[in-house]
Amino acid sequence: MKKTLAILGAGNIGLAIAKGLVEANTFRPEQIILTRRKMHLLTPLRKAGFVTEKSCRKAVQQADIVILSVEPGQIDGLLQEIRTDLNNKHLLISVISGVSIGELKNQINKNIPVIRAMPNTAIVIRESMTCLASDRKDHVYLETARTLFNTVGQTLVIDEETMTAATSLGACGIAFFLRAIRAASQGGIEIGFHSEDALTIAAQTAKGAAALLLSEGKHPEREIDKVTTPRGCTISGLNQMEHGGFSSAMIKGIITSAEKAAGLYKKCK
Ligand SMILES: NC(=O)c1ccc[n+]([C@@H]2O[C@H](COP(=O)([O-])OP(=O)(O)OC[C@H]3O[C@@H](n4cnc5c(N)ncnc54)[C@H](OP(=O)(O)O)[C@@H]3O)[C@@H](O)[C@H]2O)c1
Repeated sequence: MKKTLAILGAGNIGLAIAKGLVEANTFRPEQIILTRRKMHLLTPLRKAGFVTEKSCRKAVQQADIVILSVEPGQIDGLLQEIRTDLNNKHLLISVISGVSIGELKNQINKNIPVIRAMPNTAIVIRESMTCLASDRKDHVYLETARTLFNTVGQTLVIDEETMTAATSLGACGIAFFLRAIRAASQGGIEIGFHSEDALTIAAQTAKGAAALLLSEGKHPEREIDKVTTPRGCTISGLNQMEHGGFSSAMIKGIITSAEKAAGLYKKCK
């Protein structure tokens, strides 16, 4: 893209976005301005060619697209700081959980396009699931955001009211599936594999299962049916997991996480 991108709050997700976009050749490192308060932590990024800037105001002044990636409790202060520097050349993209477009716009109090995006940390390897939402019917800016995030994974445009659900299922979901893979690898160790081998088998198997659904458009139960022979070992393992609450635990965890995401910003008030 022939634009300059500022990432305000280059922490876990901010940096993952920056690195993924460079990996995808969407931006060169020198087109991306990274800010955070602990500037020394950005030294390796500066050495890698990114522009690092202590002042969010200066970053905004130089940017066309501004990504907000601070914690919910930090956004009010940040918006106060950059408000006067925002103008109609900017597209604002917020990846912050639990803060609505309306709440952001109320504080900015200017007619600037604001898009919400919910990526996950797999964006660093261009495998993010990024949900996008806009409050406007004109899709010009939504399309820009979509083009950008499509270079680093899949995108899905959703209603803003389902953004907290997307936070849980997509963003927190990375941790849920990683924990599931870790649990599988621990089972693998108990039945005879060294830990590295157990993890490789579990992770590649999880990748294959996901690929069956994504590339072949299959339904999980159809694919499960192909593995579960009558009186076989798969169905007995699967049913044992369900007796232990496997599906129920995942569903309850996703609901709890979504409820927490919805209250994150209000809790800071
Ligand atoms: N992590 C994920 O997987 C993920 C996925 C999707 C969305 N999100 C959302 O993205 C946001 C950030 O999450 P995170 O996990 O990346 O948190 P994080 O690692 O704590 O990153 C937040 C960053 O913001 C910086 N920051 C805070 N106030 C600032 C200010 N006034 N000016 C400039 N930088 C400032 C912090 O750096 P200093 O302490 O050095 O200032 C920190 O590097 C959250 O709202 C989260 O809900 C996270």
